[in-house]
Amino acid sequence: MSETILKMQGITKRFPGVLALDQVTISLNRGEVLALVGENGAGKSTLLKILSGAYTKDEGVIEYDGKVIEGYTPNEAIDMGISIIYQELDNYGTLTVAENILVNAMPKKNGKFSPIDWKEAYKRADEIIRQITDEIDVTAKVSTLTAAQQQLVEIAKAMSRNMKVLIMDEPTSALNRVETEQLLKIVQNLAKQGISIIYISHRMDEIFTLSDRIQVMRDGKSVSDFVTAKTDEETIVREMVGRTLDSMYPHVKQEPGECILKVNHLTCGKAKDVSFNLHRGEILGLFGLMGAGRTSVVRGLFGDLYLRDGSIEILGNSIKNRSPKDAIHNKIAYVPNERKVEGLMLTDSVRFNISIAVINSLQKHFKVDKKAEKKMADTWVEKLGIRTPSPETRVDNLSGGNQQKVVIARWLQTSPDILILNDPTRGIDVGAKAEIYSLMEDLCRQGIGIIMISSELQETLSMADRILVMSEGKVTGEVPREEATQENLMKLAVGGI
Ligand SMILES: Nc1ncnc2c1ncn2[C@@H]1O[C@H](COP(=O)(O)OP(=O)(O)OP(=O)(O)O)[C@@H](O)[C@H]1O
Ligand SMILES: [Mg+2]
Repeated sequence: MSETILKMQGITKRFPGVLALDQVTISLNRGEVLALVGENGAGKSTLLKILSGAYTKDEGVIEYDGKVIEGYTPNEAIDMGISIIYQELDNYGTLTVAENILVNAMPKKNGKFSPIDWKEAYKRADEIIRQITDEIDVTAKVSTLTAAQQQLVEIAKAMSRNMKVLIMDEPTSALNRVETEQLLKIVQNLAKQGISIIYISHRMDEIFTLSDRIQVMRDGKSVSDFVTAKTDEETIVREMVGRTLDSMYPHVKQEPGECILKVNHLTCGKAKDVSFNLHRGEILGLFGLMGAGRTSVVRGLFGDLYLRDGSIEILGNSIKNRSPKDAIHNKIAYVPNERKVEGLMLTDSVRFNISIAVINSLQKHFKVDKKAEKKMADTWVEKLGIRTPSPETRVDNLSGGNQQKVVIARWLQTSPDILILNDPTRGIDVGAKAEIYSLMEDLCRQGIGIIMISSELQETLSMADRILVMSEGKVTGEVPREEATQENLMKLAVGGI
């Protein structure tokens, strides 16, 4: 069982201004699940992009299946049996599931230049995907599938090419609990069949359920590795962050201040007849399963969805947010969950992405005051520990978690009265999570009201003063923190019997 299939030794990678990997060494056994953990920007994705052939290393040796491998393309890697599922999925959405699975190996009727044999293609793709799920129709377009189903298509694609090593980079960050559990089972089954898996995640519960070994990276170095059964969460977190985190969830319930927001019978998008209040200094959690309508509620509040019915009052005044611009004017800020689509201008700098929401206030004589803008960016980079060579670096060169911090900085900069956070710590490492929680606590002390949607139940239970539970667009319950438990929230989330 303990036969080594892969060894990466002394791997070094430089980007302009960054030593992303510094002599990293990892090894992987056949049929083993190795969890790769570390803070945002530690170098996890970079290491695995080198293994998958997407990046070239500057130094080091990769030994795979008994041979040294070098200078290969991503496609050649797949042919050798090394497949990767990226942090941000990239597939061909307009093509069918079958085409995505079979990629360059679509069966032809008679030889290379003849038309595609669709019947045969669907049959082959179906045989492969059935090994992991019965739920996916291979003739469907990939863009019509959920994020979870798209992950499975990616796995099936790897399986069609005889994979030996499967790399998964934060595969569950866009999945709900049920989908996550399904995926974990599939991964476990693949490992049982002798496939070796490298699994990156910031979620400790997943890491401990799934992995045989845990490799910790810090600042571009491989610092330590552990047999999962012989270690614990605290040890891993300490190794990752380089210090002990004393209190992960700092939020202390305060006497709620004045009512800052009143939402009456809001109906928009998936949300139906939603009413609630928010007070100064309070964190209101919005809990529900995926599709429960939570995002509709907050987008409606932010002027990003048309209100079919209902009204909004801020500090007793009725307001209308016809667009996000109105909402910002009314001192509402919204950190969206889909940072790639709604959040960031990826080819622009960290500085620009932070200052954009308040760019008007930075105008001096009809020009942006560059100095003030730079200072603003520097402050946030420092405050949130955004790991970037400089504020001028393009956002798409940052690691996933650091991109998320940039979005948060942008909205905090607008000094809102009401801050809406939609899954704010998705993809964020434990150290930075603790920073974000303590920032939320500071904001509450300053009298801001926070609405938080979270896919992590623990986060909701620990941070929210009050939890509004939704199911199928409606509010099914409101639970104060003292009474909230995993069971009663879940019960309300599935319809509230
Ligand atoms: N294409 C690139 N150009 C320049 N710098 C890069 C590039 N890709 C990564 N980096 C830098 O390399 C370092 C490591 O990034 P990497 O994406 O590997 O981190 P990570 O451990 O995957 O973090 P996260 O948990 O946030 O996903 C970071 O400082 C990042 O900014
Ligand atoms: Mg990453």
